[in-house]
Amino acid sequence: MSFKKIVGLSLFISFLFNCKNNENIAEISKINPIPQEQIMNEGHFILNQSTGISTDSVFPISEAFLLNFIEKGSNFKLEESNDIQFIKDLSISNEEGYILDISPKHIQIKAATDQGAFYGVQTLRQLLPVAFENGSFSDDTVKIPCQLIKDAPQFPYRGMHLDVSRHMFSVAFIKSYIDAIAMLKMNTFHWHLTDDQGWRIEIKSYPKLQEVAAFRDETLIGHYSDQPHRYDGQNYGGYYTQDQIKEIVAYAAFRHVTVIPEIEMPGHAQAAIAAYPNLGCSGEAINVAQKWGVFETIYCSKDETFTFLENVLDEVCDLFPSKYIHIGGDEAPKTAWKSCDSCQSRITSEALSDEHELQNYFITRIEKYLNSKGKQIIGWDEILEGGLAPNATVMSWRGTEGAIEAARQKHQVIMTPTSHCYFDYYQSTNENEPLAIGGYLPLEKVYHFDPIPEELTASEATYILGAQGNLWTEYIQNEDQVEYMVFPRILAMSEVVWSQPNLKNYDNFIERLEHFHSRLNALDINYANHLYEIDGKIISKNNDLYYELSTLSTGKDIRVSLNGDEPHLSSRFYTNPIHMDTSKILKAAVFKKDTLQKLGPTFTKIFNFHKAVGKSISIDKTPHASYAGSGPEGLINSISGSDKRFGDKEWLGFWGDDIEITIDLGEELDIHSVATRFHNGNGQWIYAPKKVSLELDNDLLTHSISQNSSILVPVSFEVQQRSRYIKLRIPNYGIIPDGKQGAGNKAWTFIDEIIVN
Ligand code: ACM
Ligand code: ZN
Repeated sequence: MSFKKIVGLSLFISFLFNCKNNENIAEISKINPIPQEQIMNEGHFILNQSTGISTDSVFPISEAFLLNFIEKGSNFKLEESNDIQFIKDLSISNEEGYILDISPKHIQIKAATDQGAFYGVQTLRQLLPVAFENGSFSDDTVKIPCQLIKDAPQFPYRGMHLDVSRHMFSVAFIKSYIDAIAMLKMNTFHWHLTDDQGWRIEIKSYPKLQEVAAFRDETLIGHYSDQPHRYDGQNYGGYYTQDQIKEIVAYAAFRHVTVIPEIEMPGHAQAAIAAYPNLGCSGEAINVAQKWGVFETIYCSKDETFTFLENVLDEVCDLFPSKYIHIGGDEAPKTAWKSCDSCQSRITSEALSDEHELQNYFITRIEKYLNSKGKQIIGWDEILEGGLAPNATVMSWRGTEGAIEAARQKHQVIMTPTSHCYFDYYQSTNENEPLAIGGYLPLEKVYHFDPIPEELTASEATYILGAQGNLWTEYIQNEDQVEYMVFPRILAMSEVVWSQPNLKNYDNFIERLEHFHSRLNALDINYANHLYEIDGKIISKNNDLYYELSTLSTGKDIRVSLNGDEPHLSSRFYTNPIHMDTSKILKAAVFKKDTLQKLGPTFTKIFNFHKAVGKSISIDKTPHASYAGSGPEGLINSISGSDKRFGDKEWLGFWGDDIEITIDLGEELDIHSVATRFHNGNGQWIYAPKKVSLELDNDLLTHSISQNSSILVPVSFEVQQRSRYIKLRIPNYGIIPDGKQGAGNKAWTFIDEIIVN
């Protein structure tokens, strides 16, 4: 009698965890993104030279993909038969859903549409050896465990974005990006084609977009916050020809990926205005931008601009069959419009109340044009300002407020908040990470993203179409680095948008990811691997502080040294949290079990013990949720923050607040110095304060900080007195001055360890 196990998912997951040493079970536990329902059966389907496949065009794309994948992956030549069969099943209600039924006799892929069947094929692909990915499978049989998978996506919009304006990538690479999207059952490629630093789509009616707008004379070197700005002196640019675009769109369609082009307006338009200065308000000549940021030269609202944009969009619509065209709409400073006669008379003639309503006029007029061509618009959440164009879909990036507002106005929404979806942010606090724009978005945070803002009612939530990972490429110069930033966070995002929330389990995801590494290796994808890094955190036990180490992957050894030696020189295995009672240098690394094979980088932490460590601290304001470090206690935990990064566990960030920090030493102690430091990354709106005051039990000292452009600004008070309380008053820098990034907004304050000696 055959063993047949039919299990609900929760039972199934525990079954998986209990049967790790059963090879077949382990295999099926590792599909990304995790499928809705999986039932293991006994036996195998044998795939070999005499296997047949039905290619009678029920689902031509899926059939061709699978045939090609198997034949190119191995030396099998599949004949025509029903061993592997595609079946149209209209009872499958989700048009992207599928059933994959693997039995000893056959493999059946059932779906209502070719797209659903395609996702069944992607699942089957992950049940085949990774050698198929690069054509190196040379055995004569594959045993595929029998099972029944029923699967369907949670959200209809599952996207990845790529900015090709700041840096450009080859056609072959764009195709491989689309391959990855499709492999993970995502269905949209948002192609950011125009921006201040380069126009990348051929528009035949405007040749200067190719001759001028597609190239910049040189590019900023290093980070925007590094002062003074330096440039590489190299011309940079290029564009995709219409033939290349058609080729890419067709390639994507063959993988059920829709390509949504983004043509930015009214802001991020400096490259186009460099080519055609009349499109701007002043008509003055200007360069294609050579550094990053938000620029004040934007499209003027005169008729001439609309003629240009309509002609451009005519060509765009002919190239992209997508229902949606993304028209940007973000980060458009209104300075130029305020002093422009054309824009001011537009405000008067259209009875608009201000420049924000002029932005709404601009977007609505373009929407009307695109609607007349059968297209819908998507815009970044700034298109809510001054009123929403009637049929627009909102892409919520500055948080979730835009999403909430749009859904309540019954507009469709795509979620891409910076907090969970910006893959240009750092993914690790490791100091050796390649330069990135800033921020901190680790894999786990992406994984736990819920695209539905909790503020929405169930009916409002139906307007959330899905989510998308974004990759802006200011600091991403080559294709390897694109892959590094995208992988593995794209796997987490694919599970966010595809899988049912109740099936998500981070530990299980990490196991599947570790397994998936071999597939990524076979695909020659330069993924980031932070699974073998060490993470440390302070814990408090019986009023004493301890330092706890962990690593994401399981079944490994952590070795540790406390004298600054490399951990392999120490035979010491990490077993328990380390007592933090003196200054010391801790080094640790992850090793393959019972070996000296080091798997990841050395983790180093310097504990600089001082009088305030472990004492009590309070701050009169709450740090910003995205930069809350280890909380106020992190300022007196003996660990200084990174010199390069402010998004780690040690820095605390406050947005616009004046803050007052009080440390209670518990008793009067001799104080000789109180020192701290501030981050001063002006390009990211972060400013050291202009002064800091220190108040001891009976003394008040104030330090003025001379304004400079160093990225780290230390402050130290030398004193000679006894005190129990230490109070630091830190007024916020204030409003960011004109001419700087973020001008007019409140500045951020970032503070590090407060060292009391
Ligand atoms: C954006 O990140 N400016 C949409
Ligand atoms: Zn104007």
